[in-house]
Amino acid sequence: MTVRAIQADLADPGEVQRISDEMRAMPVDMMVNNAGLAHYKPFADPPPAQAAELVDLNVLAPVLLTQAALPGMLARSRGTVINVASLLAFSGAVQAPFLPKRAVYAATKSFLVTFTQALAEVADRGVHVQVVCPGVVRSEFHSRQGLDMSAVPRMEPSQVVEASWTAPSFLEAVTSGKVGIHGITETASR
Ligand SMILES: NC(=O)c1ccc[n+]([C@@H]2O[C@H](COP(=O)([O-])OP(=O)(O)OC[C@H]3O[C@@H](n4cnc5c(N)ncnc54)[C@H](OP(=O)(O)O)[C@@H]3O)[C@@H](O)[C@H]2O)c1
Repeated sequence: MTVRAIQADLADPGEVQRISDEMRAMPVDMMVNNAGLAHYKPFADPPPAQAAELVDLNVLAPVLLTQAALPGMLARSRGTVINVASLLAFSGAVQAPFLPKRAVYAATKSFLVTFTQALAEVADRGVHVQVVCPGVVRSEFHSRQGLDMSAVPRMEPSQVVEASWTAPSFLEAVTSGKVGIHGITETASR
């Protein structure tokens, strides 16, 4: 296996285009759309540039990068696309004081859930798609925003990866009770 690191600002559509062009020229076996930001703030507060950054990074980049990776996967009848969403994707109707102000962030993650579910159209062509919806995870995600989450129970990143790796299909998860408060991992495969 060959691993090549490419540095890019995925909130910059021009950079995403550059990476997409490079990806089309190489065999990509697994695409993990993980980069993400939150900018938790009341919707009226953040500068429009921050709302645009969230949509560009959390929505546009995964869509365009997946589009760049898929043709090769379909040609080889093999590949995996994993989109990292969030449990907050399902939080739109919940107004609770312990939840962050998250209108744009939560909506971008809802987009990833629906996008991935519909992308299961490729599942019968050998390409696995999965959306991962973690709860709160120990990472730099909150400290980047100046939030102290030390009092909040958090998943370890390794638990998120393990849940992704060992995920049953959504139907299996529901029937076995594995859909819980730590989040949902939904996989479509043939
Ligand atoms: N932590 C949580 O509680 C939690 C819960 C649910 C879902 N998630 C999701 O999990 C994913 C990973 O987040 P995390 O918890 O690991 O947070 P994190 O520690 O802040 O990591 C975020 C990652 O995104 C990258 N990134 C941010 N902006 C970027 C940009 N413009 N271009 C390229 N890369 C960029 C960062 O790269 P640099 O380090 O180089 O900036 C970093 O690797 C995100 O999609 C997040 O929405 C997190």
